[in-house]
Amino acid sequence: MPQKVQRVKGVNDILPVEAKQWQALERVVKHVMNSYAYGEIRPPIFEKTELFARGVGEDTDIVSKEMYSFSDMSKTALTLRPELTAGVVRSYIQNNLQQISPLQKLWYEGPMFRQERPQKGRYRQFWQFGAEAIGSPHPEQDAEMIALFYAILKELGIEKSVTLKINSVGDSESRAIYRNSLQEYLRPHLSSLSETSQQRFESNPLRILDSKAPNDKELVRDAPKIRECLNEASATHYAEVLKMLEAMDIPYVQDDLLVRGLDYYTHTIFEFTSDALGAQDAICGGGRYNDLVKELGGQDVPAIGWASGIERLLLVVEALQPMQTDSGLDLFLIVKSDEIRLPASKLINKWRSAGLKCDTDTLRRSMKAQMREANRQEARYVAILGEEELGQGVVQLKNFDSGEQEAVAFEAVVTKINKAVSS
Ligand code: HAM
Repeated sequence: MPQKVQRVKGVNDILPVEAKQWQALERVVKHVMNSYAYGEIRPPIFEKTELFARGVGEDTDIVSKEMYSFSDMSKTALTLRPELTAGVVRSYIQNNLQQISPLQKLWYEGPMFRQERPQKGRYRQFWQFGAEAIGSPHPEQDAEMIALFYAILKELGIEKSVTLKINSVGDSESRAIYRNSLQEYLRPHLSSLSETSQQRFESNPLRILDSKAPNDKELVRDAPKIRECLNEASATHYAEVLKMLEAMDIPYVQDDLLVRGLDYYTHTIFEFTSDALGAQDAICGGGRYNDLVKELGGQDVPAIGWASGIERLLLVVEALQPMQTDSGLDLFLIVKSDEIRLPASKLINKWRSAGLKCDTDTLRRSMKAQMREANRQEARYVAILGEEELGQGVVQLKNFDSGEQEAVAFEAVVTKINKAVSS
C-alpha cells in the first residue's frame, strides 16, 4: 500500500461543515466593510523578502525566525506573506493609490504564513481579515478603525465578551525618551533578565514589556510607563482617540504594558482579546504606522490598521454565540429507476438554472438510500420521479417535515417550492 501523504504540521483543512461558518463570518465582514466604505484589495501571497525585512523589521520574531522564504528560478529571494500591512503599503505606493484619493480605505482577507510553534489558535498557515486606512493623521481615523472591528464583533453578538486593550507608543521623539528611561530602569537588573530580554535590551527594549518570563514580568510591572514619556502632540492625539471611543460607547482598558510584535507602529496601538481562548487570546491587533509608507519608498503619508485571525475569531464565536449558517437543500430529486436518468438529469438541471438549491443522487443508489441522502442534506422537499410520473409529466412532491405528498407538474415545481421557501 502506498503511504498516505499527511498535511504539513500547523496547517488546517477547512472542510465543508466548517466552511459554512467561514462563509457566514465572511458575509458579516463584507457587509460591515462595505458600510464603512472600505474597498477590497487582494495583494499577492508572496512578495520579495526585502519587503518584510524592511517593513516588519529585521529584529522581530516574524522576520528573524518565522518566515517561509525561498528563492525562485531567477534566484530572487521571496517570502510567503506573514502579514499583509507591508504588502498593502507596497501596493499603495506602486499603484499610486494616493492619486485616486488622498485617503485610501482598504480591507483584505486571506492566508498568512508564519513558522511558529503550533498550538490551539496558533497555526503556520492562518487566515486574517484586516483593514488599513492610509492618508489621515487624525484621531477620528484611529477611532473609526477601532469602531470598524467593534462593529464586526457586534454583528457577531460577541462584543461584550471581548476586551479592547489600548496604549500609545507615541512618535519617534517620545519613543526615544521612553527607551532611555526604560533602559535606565532595567540596567541594574540586566543580568537577571531572561536571555531574550537581554538581547532586546539594546535592539528593542520596549519588547521586554511583552516578555512572558516570570522574572521579567515582575520587573516590568514597576517600570516607567510610556504614557508618562509622550510629548505633547502624542499625548494630545492619544487623549482625543480615547475621548472619541468613549463618545462611540466603545469600552477600552488602557494597558501600559501593551507593545506589538511588529516594528512599524507609532502612536495608538491596540489588541482585542477574549477569555474564551487559551494562551493565544488576541483576536485582533493593530495600530498606527505613520512612518511605514515613507520607509518603503513612498511619500510621507500616515496610516493605521488592524488584522484579525479568522481561526481564533471562529473559536470564540463557536464558544459564545454560534452563527446561523446556510440551511439545507430546497429539494432533493429521487429517481426510481436507472432507465429514466436522462430525463431526470434534464429536469434537475432546469431547476438549478431557475435558482433552486437542489441535488440528486449520482451513485444510482436504492430509493431508501436516496431518501437517507435527502435527509442528510436537510432537504425541505423531495421530488420522486418514476416511469409513471414521467409519462404524466409530474413528480410526487413530498414535504419532508409534514410528510404531505402531491403530484405536481414539472413546470409548476419551481414556483411551488419558491413559494413554500419564502413563506
Ligand atoms: P498581528 O498581531 O501579528 O498583526 O496579527 C493579527 C492577528 O492575527 C492576531 O491578533 C491573531 O488573531 C492572528 N494571528 C497572528 N498569528 C497567528 C497564528 N500563527 N495563528 C493564528 N492566528 C494568528 C498583524 O498581522 C498586523 N499586520 C496587523 C496590522 C494591520 N497592523 C496594522 N495594520
